[in-house]
Amino acid sequence: MSRFGPRRYLGRSGVVSGATAVVVLLSACNTTTATTVVPANTPSSVSAAAVAGDRYLDPQAPVDERVADLLGRMSLDEKLGQMTLVEKGSISPDQVAEYHIGAVLSGGGGSPRPNTPLAWREMVGAYQTAALSTRLGIPMLYGVDAIHGHNNLRDAVIFPHNVGLGATGDPELVEAIGRATAIETAATGIRWTYSPVLAVPQDVRWGRTYEAFGEDPELVSLLGAAMVRGLQGENLTADTSVLATPKHFVGDGGTAWGTSTSAGYQIDQGVTLAPETDLRANHLPPYEAAFEAGALSVMASYSSWENGKVHGDRFLLTEVLRGDLSFGGFVVSDWAAVDQVLPGDYYGSVVQSINAGIDLVMVPSEFELFLTALGGAVEQGDITQARVDEAVGRILDVKIRMGLFESPMPPEDLINQIGSSEHRELARQAVAESAVLLKTSPGLLPIDKDSTDTLLLAGTAANDIGIQSGGWTISWQGSSGEITEGTTIYEALTAASGADIVFDRFGRFDSFTTLDGSPLVAPIGIAVVGERPYAEGRGDSGSLALSETDVEVIRRIRSRVDQLIVVLITGRPLILGEEFADVDAIVVAWLPGSEGTGIVDVLSGLQAFGGRLPYTWPKSIDSVGSIRSDPCDGATYPVGYGLSTDGLALDDTNACEVGQ
Ligand code: GLC
Repeated sequence: MSRFGPRRYLGRSGVVSGATAVVVLLSACNTTTATTVVPANTPSSVSAAAVAGDRYLDPQAPVDERVADLLGRMSLDEKLGQMTLVEKGSISPDQVAEYHIGAVLSGGGGSPRPNTPLAWREMVGAYQTAALSTRLGIPMLYGVDAIHGHNNLRDAVIFPHNVGLGATGDPELVEAIGRATAIETAATGIRWTYSPVLAVPQDVRWGRTYEAFGEDPELVSLLGAAMVRGLQGENLTADTSVLATPKHFVGDGGTAWGTSTSAGYQIDQGVTLAPETDLRANHLPPYEAAFEAGALSVMASYSSWENGKVHGDRFLLTEVLRGDLSFGGFVVSDWAAVDQVLPGDYYGSVVQSINAGIDLVMVPSEFELFLTALGGAVEQGDITQARVDEAVGRILDVKIRMGLFESPMPPEDLINQIGSSEHRELARQAVAESAVLLKTSPGLLPIDKDSTDTLLLAGTAANDIGIQSGGWTISWQGSSGEITEGTTIYEALTAASGADIVFDRFGRFDSFTTLDGSPLVAPIGIAVVGERPYAEGRGDSGSLALSETDVEVIRRIRSRVDQLIVVLITGRPLILGEEFADVDAIVVAWLPGSEGTGIVDVLSGLQAFGGRLPYTWPKSIDSVGSIRSDPCDGATYPVGYGLSTDGLALDDTNACEVGQ
């Protein structure tokens, strides 16, 4: 409970219930300007301030002068509104104007209805129009998690999740994916994405392992910077430039199993036990690379370190981030993460997190409560005006550098690039490059796509766009089924192969018999199995085991084919049980997204296998998360391992002596 008891938000300065003295105090802090008379024929989109020819609206003026001019004109309420990020389901465009809200987001799955590009543009445009209608016409920033394409938007291209991009190790490819993602996102009027994840996961039991590029900080730095360049493009003011938000600063990939205090989570949002030397050596470098690449916002981590929650840690969010890394953009909090800083004391949590270095708070729902706490803290001096001006100045600086004041509304001409064949081809290429061949048998691959033999195909993941896309697809957690446009592995195989493909989700081929009823055995079978979609802590797994259903699928098809290929749809390494001992080839497809054709491209030899493990592949669950002195400590396959189509190691990493 706040020290000030329940307080109503002051609302627009001058409109208040109770606490009149506070209004007097606040209004004493407010700076007001004479009202500008707007000529009758002025277009409605041009606010009074623009007509007045104010310096902050002069695109030729230096950014810092524009920021200083605007700050000098703003009331306290207008400043506090700029520090507030609200989920679109909790605020109307009118309230954005009324409370001077500076930013709105769609959380995972936060789509308009219908979930179409035009509906997205209308939704975002309505919030922007409201923001521009305010006294100073400060444009708002609209943000989404476009983490593998514009993944909330139905029929947008869904690119492989970062774990697969990590397996490609290809910065040019990743930059191109960032560019395509930015275009599809900006086409719906959105200029801000909460990506890339720059975690360096050390324990693959973490449900967010697939959102990261890998366990090696150098790989994460290389690909994270490439993604930032792709998303933001050459010119941050371009309509197709989308502000990147490296996340979650810092150490989210180093938490220990069992340390999470979030409901039902085990390791997500837990405690990072790494000492400072390890934090600086392994978890900081990707941010240095991302800032070097031009990232101007960063999201703080839910996790905790030596000083408690990172969201309340001034050492990390100010001394390290601003001092050591010289970060010049703004820091945005994670979804209701401020509330966790001092559980049960919301006022104290707001004070501590703002003073630690959070500039923009993803509330995301109770924005009046937040504004009341924030306004109360300024009134009490627990948060200084100078700190408010610093935070708001950073936010305005980025908005100005993005050209939002000059071009706040969605461009008209990008919609046709959403789901374009060019972007689908790029995604298909990425899927092919991401596939890792762990095991094969002489002569098995590539399969002869011109063969007319019967080919048996099994597995619930073989013909399911939702499963092959994983979490953060159309909805926050993702789901199985025809959730968006794309090509499943079954569809791609059918299109590419001359074989008679007999498909059964559960591997039941009882009707596959000779005329006299004896079981037929096909030369080759493929089982596509793995993880069902999940996101964040809901994916924390203490077993990393295949489901019984999938194990049974492998067993059933094994008995009906001469040679068996298992394709794994998974966000991370899994523990391979004894059912894999008798498997002739193992392909890791990760979470390929909408373009499953890329997997058939490597199986059929159209593309060569080239993917390499971004994570160590553990031999057992007991060896997960342990510090390895040797890459093969507790491993079946070391990080960096991968085979070529004909079964040769792609470089000097070989299967560990216990590999199958
Ligand atoms: C989530 C995630 C974060 C995401 C944010 C907005 O809880 O932790 O990565 O950007 O909320 O969806």
